[in-house]
Amino acid sequence: MKLRSKDILGLDHLEPDEITLILDMARDMKKIVQSNMKRVNYLQGRSVVTLFYENSTRTRVSFELAAKYMGAHAVNVSVSTSSVAKGESLIDTGKTLDVMGTDIVIMRHSQPGAPHLLARNINASVINGGDGMHEHPTQALLDMFTMREAKGGFEGLKVAIIGDIMHSRVARSNMIGLGKMGAKVCIFAPTTLIPPGIEKMGCTICQSLEEAIDGADVVMGLRIQKERLKKALIPSTEEYARFFGVDVRHLAGAKKDVLVMHPGPVNRGVEMTSLLIDSDQSKITEQVTNGVAVRMALLYLLAGREEN
Ligand code: CP
Repeated sequence: MKLRSKDILGLDHLEPDEITLILDMARDMKKIVQSNMKRVNYLQGRSVVTLFYENSTRTRVSFELAAKYMGAHAVNVSVSTSSVAKGESLIDTGKTLDVMGTDIVIMRHSQPGAPHLLARNINASVINGGDGMHEHPTQALLDMFTMREAKGGFEGLKVAIIGDIMHSRVARSNMIGLGKMGAKVCIFAPTTLIPPGIEKMGCTICQSLEEAIDGADVVMGLRIQKERLKKALIPSTEEYARFFGVDVRHLAGAKKDVLVMHPGPVNRGVEMTSLLIDSDQSKITEQVTNGVAVRMALLYLLAGREEN
């Protein structure tokens, strides 16, 4: 079995068997990430470029490490010092990378659909590292990997997603992916941060933190995205923390083996208390490790499409 598309643009485009393939492959890749010999030659002779128009630590660095662990040439385009700053278009930038022999471009952009546009215009595979408020497929895949590793599967899982749903590409990708795999997603957020019609994505809107967390297998916090909060959608971060911030005491109604997750970066004391972030239930650092394994799996599967 192989991935059907040359690109990874969203969970919307992945079938359940492809998601399972990626997660199974990531399980093997994690052994390499955790070993003392992080060097295999699966991508020897291949070129991987990261092209990020928005800031990132986890996604960009983990893709670069994933490529390097597998022996690829890995290059980062620093957008602020590249010809993008001279006004070069996205398509022209992509075509320039393409004719240099790039095999895979990982891009992040503030405009929803930007990776899709690039993918239609270049031969290299394109991986969406986050496009505006649309999707962040690799984050959802690493989140799903973390859940499956701890819980064994998705069927019947209750995942509570708390926070800024409106601006969260992570929430959107998780809702799509988890829904496809048989999990149930419940959300809780200020009404100003719930997009109209979101329940059409298959999630349940809860009226309280307690209702969302009741019986939950996973509690996922989301970052308050100050860079996308153009209007005063919340009175203040202090008030947000009081009514929507998650603390250890809120887990009383959750399953005993509940997982606490957050895509990061976390605003400590706003979305979650430090006590919860650093608790035994927290999988937040494990998510970061799993991110490298999942991204290794994606690079490997995309690079191997032709050979397979
Ligand atoms: N979760 C996530 O996308 O983190 P970065 O912005 O650091 O890549």
